[in-house]
Amino acid sequence: MTNTSPRPSIDRDAIIRILSSNTPDAIEAVRRQAEQILLTHCGNKVYYRGLVEFSNQCACNCLYCGIRAENTSVRRYAMNEAEIIEAAQWCAQAGYGSIVLQSGERKDEPFVAFVENVVRRIKRETVSTDLPQGLGITLCVGEQTEATYRRFREAGAHRYLLRIETTNPALFARIHPAGQTLASRMQALEHLHTAGFQVGTGVMIGLPGQTLDMLADDVVFFHRFDIDMIGMGPYIPHAATPMAGWPNPDWPPARAFQTALLMVAAVRISLKDVNIAATTALQAMDPVGREKGLQFGANVIMPQLTPTEHRGDYLLYENKPCIDEDKSECRRCLERRIQSVGRTLAINEWGDSRHFARRTAEA
Ligand code: 5AD
Repeated sequence: MTNTSPRPSIDRDAIIRILSSNTPDAIEAVRRQAEQILLTHCGNKVYYRGLVEFSNQCACNCLYCGIRAENTSVRRYAMNEAEIIEAAQWCAQAGYGSIVLQSGERKDEPFVAFVENVVRRIKRETVSTDLPQGLGITLCVGEQTEATYRRFREAGAHRYLLRIETTNPALFARIHPAGQTLASRMQALEHLHTAGFQVGTGVMIGLPGQTLDMLADDVVFFHRFDIDMIGMGPYIPHAATPMAGWPNPDWPPARAFQTALLMVAAVRISLKDVNIAATTALQAMDPVGREKGLQFGANVIMPQLTPTEHRGDYLLYENKPCIDEDKSECRRCLERRIQSVGRTLAINEWGDSRHFARRTAEA
């Protein structure tokens, strides 16, 4: 296949200008530009990925995260294989097309083998006339070895989310324990590429000490790493974490939220054909935060499929929405939300990012 659209170049100054928009008119102009680019390069469909947070057991100690290993006030859980398969069946029958399996990070062999096996079973057991290749599977289970990534890919998962959190080395080091490095996170993203995944990453917005320059560097990084999918949201302090008490004078919550929307727009305007999620963290700060995410250029929503009994234990941050709604209510509610912003819900489609198709056609 010949490809006529060259990879867009990236204009860091333009990104900074977008992120600095601070009047309603300027923000609306950016929003409209992002929406236009979205409609031109991706169409008006919104893709669903049913989200199953299957375990909150975690070996990491990220200083911002509510399920960090050292938070002893969390009740730990792990869904069993049958529960995850049941959620996957529901997801397929509801027409969502894709599922995301997310958990805390563990690298031990029993965990890796469990995930591998569950992926294989979901692939096998969700094939139907509506979904001839079964559900599209996205994994989000942290940094793993290249060999583990290959096992997951071979089992049938084809997308992977691993946020870089921030590409600023000093800021990354401040918000993570000494053992976790930016270099190894970048290496993991490279391994995901070579293992053949569609690769998703993203950052938190409004971290103490974070600047608009750093956020612009993050967008340049997404471009340089040829990332296919982006998930970003405002940083929301969690009381049972070391960062809860850190002063954050530059980022009152309303600014973090607004800048997160502008980051969605900046990514859409500069990367054009990637998939961007309207994240739950946006909704945690504004009852219509996810709809706003869609209006600023996002095209993916991840409805909750985690069983209600576990949702209260998967709180990465406080004020997480939808923790009491069951999954059928969640589906109806989201459909209304998508229609309210003039977009169409895609049914029984994987909804792979067009960027991935282009990247592989060029290779
Ligand atoms: N606020 C916002 N996002 C958070 N995450 C973790 N903790 C927080 C928080 N306190 C995000 C991280 C992680 C993703 C799964 O959730 O970006 O990669």
